[in-house]
Amino acid sequence: MQSMHSHQSSMPGHEHPSGERPSRKLIFLIDNQPNRIQKTRALLGDLYDLRVFEDGGSALAAMYDLQPLIALVDERTLSKQGGGIHRTKCNDKRIKHIPFIIMSDGHEGPFLAGDGSGAIDHFLKRPIKINMLLDHIARTVSHKVEKSWEKLPHAAHKTLRCMADQFDLIAKAVANNTPLDKSQITASCNPLADCVRENQHKYVLLGLRNHHNFTYVHSMRVAIFMSVFAQAYNISKSEMTLLATGGYMHDVGKILVAQAILNKPGKLNDNEWDEIRHHVEHSIAIINSIEGVNPIIRLIAEQHHERLDGSGYPNGLNGLEINEIGRMAAIADVFASLTDESPYRHAFDPETAFSIMKQMGPALDQHLLTLFQSAISD
Ligand SMILES: [Fe+2]
Ligand SMILES: [Fe+2]
Repeated sequence: MQSMHSHQSSMPGHEHPSGERPSRKLIFLIDNQPNRIQKTRALLGDLYDLRVFEDGGSALAAMYDLQPLIALVDERTLSKQGGGIHRTKCNDKRIKHIPFIIMSDGHEGPFLAGDGSGAIDHFLKRPIKINMLLDHIARTVSHKVEKSWEKLPHAAHKTLRCMADQFDLIAKAVANNTPLDKSQITASCNPLADCVRENQHKYVLLGLRNHHNFTYVHSMRVAIFMSVFAQAYNISKSEMTLLATGGYMHDVGKILVAQAILNKPGKLNDNEWDEIRHHVEHSIAIINSIEGVNPIIRLIAEQHHERLDGSGYPNGLNGLEINEIGRMAAIADVFASLTDESPYRHAFDPETAFSIMKQMGPALDQHLLTLFQSAISD
C-alpha cells in the first residue's frame, strides 16, 4: 500500500486533504456476523465507504448500479447460499470485473472452485491484520487497473507497463538495500518522453486512475507534468527524459516512510509530519547511491518542497537559492497532488488547481506557473 496523500503542508487550506474533500471509494462487505462487521468497519471505515450486506443476494442486486471498487466477502455467509451468487457474478459481464476478496477461517467453500471465466478473486485467511487487508485491496484493485492498460494505445500501455515494473524493482532494491541501475531507470522513462512529444500522455494519466500504488501514481504524474513543462522550453528528447526521470524519482524516499503514516486519513501529529518530511532526505540518500546519477535528478528530489518565500523544507531555501528546475518541480508536484484523486478525496479540476496555486503567491514562481498553465492547456 502506498502513499495516499502528498503532504503539501505549505499549501493554503490543505494541511491535510482528507478532512476537506472526502470522497471515499465504495467497498461492499458481505457478512452476517455483527462482531466481524464491526471489526472490518473499524479497520476500513476511515479510508473507504463501506456498505454492508448481510446476504449475497442483496449485495449482488446493488452491485449493478453501485459498481463498488471491490467486495469483501465472508466465506460462510456466501457458502450458506450455495455459492450461486459468486457464479452469477463470474458470469455476468456487467459485474464480473468487480474483484471479490473472500475472507475465511481456513476452509474453502464450493464457490471457490472457480469457473475459468477470468473473474478476479482472492482469498484471505483470518486473522486479518490491517496492513495485510489494505495491501490485498491495493494489489487486487491495481491488478485490475493494469489489465485495463491493454486497451490503451500502444505507446501509453508500454509507458505504464515499463514504469510500473521499474517502480517495483526500485521498491524491492530499496527494501533490500541493493544497488539501483541508472541506465535501467532512464530507459524506463524513455517511452514517457515519446508519449508527451506525441501528445499521448493523456492516456497515461487515464491509465493511472484508481491504481492503488499511490507513490507510483504520484511519481508518474509528476514525471508527466515535468515532461509537459519541459516541452514549453523546446528542449531535446534526452533532456526531456532527464526531467521525466527526475519527476519519477522525486519521492522515491517515501518507500522508506511508514505506510501507516503515509496513509493515515486523520490529522497528523508533529512527529508524523516530521517523519513525512524525512522522505526528502531518504530520496536524496537513495538517489546518491545510484552510480553516475545525473545531479538534476537529485536536485529535483532535494528542492521540490522548497518554497520561494522560504516556507518550504528541508532547508527553508529562499528565492534564487532555489534552482529553476527545483521551482518547476515544486509546481509540477503541487499540481499533480491537487489534481489527483485518492480513495478518500476528490481531485480538483485543473482550473481550480491553478487558481489555488496562484493564491499561493510568493511561495511558487508565478512566472513559471503561467508558463506551465499554458503548456498544460495546449
Ligand atoms: Fe515530496
Ligand atoms: Fe511529490
